[in-house]
Amino acid sequence: MKPLIAPSQYVDPGVLALELKRIFEREWIFACSLHELSKDQDFRCIDVGNVSVVLQNFGGEIRAFNNVCSHRFARLQTEPCGNRQLKCPYHGWIYNAEGLPYAIPRKPLISEITPQTLCDYRLVRWHVRFLGPLVFIKRENPGETLAEDDFERQWGDFWAPVSQLASAFGEVVEHTEHRVNANWKLVVENTLEGYHVDCVHPDTIRKLGMSGLAGPAPESAQGAPESDAEPGGQKASFFRFAGRNSAVFSPLNAEVSARMDRAYKFLARRPQRIEGYRHFYLYPNFVLASTRGESFSLQRILPIDEKTTVLTSYLFATSGLGELSKMELALKKQFYRSAAEFVQAIFAEDAAICEQVQRSVGFAHGAGVLSDEEQRICAFHEAYAASMNFD
Ligand code: FES
Ligand SMILES: [Fe+2]
Repeated sequence: MKPLIAPSQYVDPGVLALELKRIFEREWIFACSLHELSKDQDFRCIDVGNVSVVLQNFGGEIRAFNNVCSHRFARLQTEPCGNRQLKCPYHGWIYNAEGLPYAIPRKPLISEITPQTLCDYRLVRWHVRFLGPLVFIKRENPGETLAEDDFERQWGDFWAPVSQLASAFGEVVEHTEHRVNANWKLVVENTLEGYHVDCVHPDTIRKLGMSGLAGPAPESAQGAPESDAEPGGQKASFFRFAGRNSAVFSPLNAEVSARMDRAYKFLARRPQRIEGYRHFYLYPNFVLASTRGESFSLQRILPIDEKTTVLTSYLFATSGLGELSKMELALKKQFYRSAAEFVQAIFAEDAAICEQVQRSVGFAHGAGVLSDEEQRICAFHEAYAASMNFD
């Protein structure tokens, strides 16, 4: 299979500028988790390329805006997160949940602002939707009406299984931001294949005993209802595709699974008792993985510039374990601490290899090639090409 993204597209600032317009300002993107915005006036800023977006809790309602004042363009929230009203630090304009300035110091001196013209000074808004405790945003474009189910539709057939997983999210046990010196597409592609596991993760993922990836879902699982598509009993991993999104289901080594069951009996009550490992990618910037429904590892991938990506990870514990004894609580703590360490170790290994690729892709020869194990990258390239070529 031939890649559809040319090596030069990983190093060209002009390409990144187009991607921001054609992908990140047009798609639903994963922004943050609700636990970061739980109280009135909590806010969280994220960078999407050179644009800062502020997500803010207005009396329980989560809203998102471009983080720039309509008066003379100061940044409204200057910290990455915190708790304060949406007030410009320069001349003190305060904005409401609609993105309108409702308190303007010495307003009578600005003759242009009247009740009729106030809307001209509205902030650029982003739509907000939720998947369990996860917040997704999509830039509002003037004159465009958004279908009620626009967000759900973007997931295609993955909406039901992913919502089910999200309904089991418990507390956040780890949340870190990594700055990776590599193009965002390299970071996405790296999450979409297991071909690199033997070379890049010999002491981490490989030790879990995941079998090698095969290819598309076997006949019996293609289009089968989710409950029939358990990977248990499969000899190898398989892929599934839903629109522009893709997933891989991998069985775990049976011995490893049995050992887990014995060691962590308190997890038997978890609501999502999936077998093996599942990994979903939602185009363009969201990754969700779960091993046996015991923990849920999420990634947010956002470009800063053509050679810098912020990779944010969240690790959720499972909910629904009921009352735990003191001993079980200690075990739980230890279980999730080692899960967090495991995720961190993998991120460090992945970041290092992506940074190596970034250093060489600029003088690449040829167009590269993709193996059957890298089929999810093909799907990403097709989605990407479709986004970049519309007009
Ligand atoms: S720049 Fe924001 S109030 Fe003046
Ligand atoms: Fe990896």
